[in-house]
Amino acid sequence: MRESRAIYPGSFDPITNGHVDIIERGLKIFDQILVAVLENPKKEALFTTEERVAMIRDIFSSEPRVEVKSFDGLLVDFARKNNIQVVIRGLRAISDFEYEFQMALMNRKLYPELETLFMMPNLNYTFLSSRLVKEIYMLGGCVKGLVPGPIEKNLREKFLPRRP
Ligand code: PNS
Repeated sequence: MRESRAIYPGSFDPITNGHVDIIERGLKIFDQILVAVLENPKKEALFTTEERVAMIRDIFSSEPRVEVKSFDGLLVDFARKNNIQVVIRGLRAISDFEYEFQMALMNRKLYPELETLFMMPNLNYTFLSSRLVKEIYMLGGCVKGLVPGPIEKNLREKFLPRRP
């Protein structure tokens, strides 16, 4: 029987517990999830693409159903190349909706066979974003419970020279 696969794209700079929650939920529906890390030279990221890929691989090292790759260019092209027809996106709040709706419909226009599946994270993570995690950490706040343990260590190493 053919295995069901979905792609979960994002910047993951860095991956948060909200992302992990969505991947775990996705694994209840699909046999395999391909986590696609956006390589965007225009958007300044804290972690390099290689670091972001390595961090996610590390977190899911005991889950063979999760594969992690980086991509550049259009998501639809990457999905086509990997023969995947479902995109998972997390929807935290109404504020996410407009952007996500626009992206889902544009992706559908470019690749009509592609379906976008929105999943709600655990309520505890609805306020969580990679941007806030970085800001809180940089300003000396505590990110315990917001990112997986190893990511806290990665943040510490990145921010050591800048943190108050
Ligand atoms: O985690 P993010 O930053 O919200 O993820 C956004 C992402 C990576 C899903 C989106 O920017 C994307 O798909 N970029 C690839 C370029 C692309 O396909 N653009 C057209 C979207 S309609």
